[in-house]
Amino acid sequence: MSKKLTYGMVGGGKNSQIGIVHRKAINLHNNAELVCGAFSRDFKNTLITGKELKLEEKRLYRNYEEMAEEESKRPDKIDFVSIVTPNVSHYEIAKKFLESGINVMCEKPLTVTLDQANELSNIAKNNKLIFAVAYSYTGYSMVRFARDLVRSGKIGDIRFVNAQYISDWMAKVPFEGKIPRHEWRSDPKFSGLSNCVADIGVHVENLVSFITGLKIKSLCARMDKFIEKNKLDDNASILVNFDNGAEGIYWTSQIAIGHENNLNFGIYGTKGSIEWSQEQANYLKISTIDHPFLRLSRGSKEISEYIKQDYVTPGGHQEGYIEAFARIYEKFINAIIKRKKGEILTQEDLDFPTVEQGVIGMKFIEKCLESANKNCTWIEF
Ligand SMILES: NC(=O)c1ccc[n+]([C@@H]2O[C@H](COP(=O)([O-])OP(=O)(O)OC[C@H]3O[C@@H](n4cnc5c(N)ncnc54)[C@H](O)[C@@H]3O)[C@@H](O)[C@H]2O)c1
Repeated sequence: MSKKLTYGMVGGGKNSQIGIVHRKAINLHNNAELVCGAFSRDFKNTLITGKELKLEEKRLYRNYEEMAEEESKRPDKIDFVSIVTPNVSHYEIAKKFLESGINVMCEKPLTVTLDQANELSNIAKNNKLIFAVAYSYTGYSMVRFARDLVRSGKIGDIRFVNAQYISDWMAKVPFEGKIPRHEWRSDPKFSGLSNCVADIGVHVENLVSFITGLKIKSLCARMDKFIEKNKLDDNASILVNFDNGAEGIYWTSQIAIGHENNLNFGIYGTKGSIEWSQEQANYLKISTIDHPFLRLSRGSKEISEYIKQDYVTPGGHQEGYIEAFARIYEKFINAIIKRKKGEILTQEDLDFPTVEQGVIGMKFIEKCLESANKNCTWIEF
């Protein structure tokens, strides 16, 4: 099975944001080829995008339903679909492809309700399909190394987590219909019941849970709407209690002027702490009680072989967003290849964000909304 896998894309048409990142990330490992798409609701856009991507015209579809139906009839049907449309459509599109026997990579948030997310997870399980969610930031080498450090006990028992995903684009971009992705994110018809928590707060929840392995026990959320025209939250402060007794504070914002895409965390344990920031993704700060702090880079000898074996860009050079995305895709694609060969998948094979993490993300959004709607009451998770 040396042939590349094939895939299709729903969304990601000309002038959209994240579809092109997915395509570039997949290309980095050269193990899957884009062969079809329904890139937009506007078929003209799909045709233009497909032509630019040099796809066969007969595999450019008017809508995702037609794509799933036609592809599932082909002897060479696609191995997976990447869903990169606005939130509200993830459920129906993912469901259609799962029911057509096609593996799925879906953007976050997985759906707009927890019930929908659970349903997708069950369909994937029943149909023995692989379903990943594009929690891209857990693909960074230094994030994965942070998880190793926590697992090895380097910082002791975790006491406190301070994590943020703060940006300022909604404060800077004029609202009036200039940027479609601005419009839809703040409109419940396309975004669901949350904008900021669903859009970037879920990355914080997923990142912290990926690194620490801690589960949220309860939370208390305040969700704000600072921009007058926004119909949904554009800023949120969330207190969390974890199952081991540790505490945390998450801040997620689209109005934090001065921050472009500042996803960062500090994890504080009984023996030390680790800190990381997405805008300086190649470095990790480690402090222990009895040593001055260390700033480790990806090239440092301390980085484990499990992490280094996945490097595409050598240490001493800057690894970025595309590489992080590509790492998730590589593991997802390898799992599909292994399943196609009839082999049993191990936990290590599934070391990418799976649908179960998407379900937890949806639970997080719903619990934040419940708390915020009850005047920031503490809510059991
Ligand atoms: N993982 C990340 O880091 C990350 C970053 C950005 C966006 N996202 C997620 O990606 C998704 C898309 O966000 P975006 O910023 O790229 O949006 P966008 O508005 O830039 O692009 C959405 C695309 O989907 C197309 N589309 C909409 N409905 C469709 C349908 N039914 N069938 C086919 N195409 C359809 C639009 O025409 C457009 O091409 C969102 O769920 C968002 O939360 C994730």
